[in-house]
Amino acid sequence: MSVGTSPGRRAGVRALPVLAVTATAAVLGLVFAMPAGAAGTPLRQLAEAKGIYFGTALTQSNLSNSTLTSVAAAQFDMVTPGNEMKWDTTEPSNGSFNFGPGDAIVSFAQANNERVRGHNLVWHSQLPSWVTSLPLNQVQSAMETHITTEVNHYKGKVYSWDVVNEPFNDDGSLRQDVFYNAFGGSGYIADALRTARAADPNAKLYLNDYNIEGTGAKSNAMFSLVQSLKAQGVPIDGVGFESHFILGQVPSTMEANMARFAALGVDVAVTELDDRIQLPATSANLTQQASDYAAVVNDCLAVSRCVGVTQWGVGDADSWIPGAFSGFGAATMYDQNYQPKPAYTSTQSALGSSGGGGGGNTVTVTNPGTQTGTVGTAAGVQVHATDSGAGQALTYSATGLPAGLSINASSGLISGTPTAAGTSSVTIRVTDATGAAGTATLTWTVSAAGGGGGTGGSGTCHVSYARQTEWAGGFVANLTISDTGSAAITNWSLTFSFPGDQRITNGWNATLAQSGTAVTATNAGYNSTISPGGSTSLGFQGTWTSNDSSPTAFSVNGVSCS
Ligand code: XIL
Repeated sequence: MSVGTSPGRRAGVRALPVLAVTATAAVLGLVFAMPAGAAGTPLRQLAEAKGIYFGTALTQSNLSNSTLTSVAAAQFDMVTPGNEMKWDTTEPSNGSFNFGPGDAIVSFAQANNERVRGHNLVWHSQLPSWVTSLPLNQVQSAMETHITTEVNHYKGKVYSWDVVNEPFNDDGSLRQDVFYNAFGGSGYIADALRTARAADPNAKLYLNDYNIEGTGAKSNAMFSLVQSLKAQGVPIDGVGFESHFILGQVPSTMEANMARFAALGVDVAVTELDDRIQLPATSANLTQQASDYAAVVNDCLAVSRCVGVTQWGVGDADSWIPGAFSGFGAATMYDQNYQPKPAYTSTQSALGSSGGGGGGNTVTVTNPGTQTGTVGTAAGVQVHATDSGAGQALTYSATGLPAGLSINASSGLISGTPTAAGTSSVTIRVTDATGAAGTATLTWTVSAAGGGGGTGGSGTCHVSYARQTEWAGGFVANLTISDTGSAAITNWSLTFSFPGDQRITNGWNATLAQSGTAVTATNAGYNSTISPGGSTSLGFQGTWTSNDSSPTAFSVNGVSCS
C-alpha cells in the first residue's frame, strides 16, 4: 500500500484511518460499526440537533456502489432521487408509468431512516418527446394525469415535491415551454400545485430553481410569483434554492433573500448544493470551497424557515458537474475516493460539531396545531417540548405571532390579546443550552371582533404594522388594514410616515410610493374592497441604515385609524 511511502502528504494521512476501518469492517462484516465518511459526529445528527436536515441526491446506479451507500446512509437524513422521479423515467410514453427506479431510491431511504424529496413533476427538461408533440389542447390533461398518478404512487413516502422545476429564464421571464404555451401563460403553475395538493394533502409543495439564491431579477420574479400564488390561495409550501455555485460566488445576499421568501409564509431549502472548481483543484481552492459550504449552511441556519440543505450527489466521483460543465469538477464535500474534503469539515463545524460537551441533543416540539382568535379577546396556548438530553433548560421563541401576542421565553406560554385580524404562519423554536433546537410551524387566524367595535378605537379602521425580519441594512414588513366600521372601505389609500431612514425597495398586494419618509400604499385590483369586519394585508421589503423603528400612525382614505 502506498500510504506509508508518502508520509508527508495530508491526503495520505487522512486516508489511513478510513482504509483501516473499511478493511476491519469488511473482515468482521460490521459495515456500520463506525459512521462512514468521516470521524466525528455525522452531518445528519448535527443537522437534526439544529432542527434541519442534511440531504444528498442518489441515482439508481449509485445504489450498487457500497462505498458510496455507506457514506449516504451514515451522513445524510434526506434523499432526492437524481433522475428517477423525472417525467422521462416515470412516464416514458403516454399513460405508461414506471416507478421501479424511484421505488428503489425510496426503499434505500426508508431502510436508512431517511426522508425523500420528490423531484420533480413538471419540468421543461428530461421531458419525453411525446409530451412536447401533443396537440396543445391535450397538454393540461396529460400534465394533471402525470402529477396525480405519480404523487398518488408516492403518497405518504415523500416529504416534499418539487412540483414545478426551473420555471424561469435568467432574466426573470417565464420559460415558454410546452406547459406555458398550453395554458397561454403562467396558469400551469397554479394548476400543477392544486393537482399535487389534491393527490397528497400532506406533502410539502415546492417551486425549485437555480440562480435565485441571491437577490436579482430571477429571484424577484420567483418572489412575485410566490406572493401572487399566496394571494390567490394556491397551495405553495416552499421554495427550493438549487445552489449550483461556482467557487467563491455564494451570493452575499443569500440569507436575506431566503428570509424575504420565508416572510411570505413558505419554507425555504437549499436543494442541490455543489460548488464547482476549475480543474485541477488547488489546495487554496479547497479552502475557499470549505468557506463557501460553511456560508451556505450558516445562511440556512440563520433563517428559521430554512428546513434543510441537500448536496447534489455524495462525492466528486458521482457528481453531475464534470459532465455538465466542461473543465469543472471537485464540486462536493467528498473526493473521488469518498474521503472527506475541507468542505466536509467546515460543514460539520457550521452545523455545530465543535460546540463542546453535550452536543447531539434532540429537541422535539409538540405542534399545538392550528389556532384561532378574535381581535380584542385574550388568546393563548402552552407550547410543550422535550429534550433528549437530561436536565436541559429550554428557551422558547416564536416568529410570525399575530400582533398583540407574545411567547414567554422560559415557560413557552403564548398569551396576549390580538389587535388585528389576519392569518399568520407562526414558527416556534425551542433551544437548549447546547444550541440544539427544534421547531414547529402552525397557522394562527384572528378574526375581526363581531358586533360593536371591540377595541374602542375611534376610527373606522385599524392598521397593524409587523416587521417580520430585519438584518443589517434590510427588513421585511407586513401591514394589515382592518375595517372596524359598518361600511365597506373601497379604493383605499393608506398613508403613514417612517420614523427612521427606511426606503421601500419592493412591495406586494399594493402599489407603494415613497416621498421622503411619507409612504402611500394604494390597493391592488383584487383587494380594493375591505368589508366591515374584514381585513387585507400588504407588505414590502426595504433598506435602512441607522433607524428601523416602526411607524405608529396610519390613515386610510384620509381618516386616521386606531
Ligand atoms: C441533473 C442530474 O444530476 C443529471 O444526472 C442529469 O443528466 C441532468 O439533471 N437542476 C435540477 C436537477 O433540478 O434535476 C439536475 O439534475 C441538475 C440541475
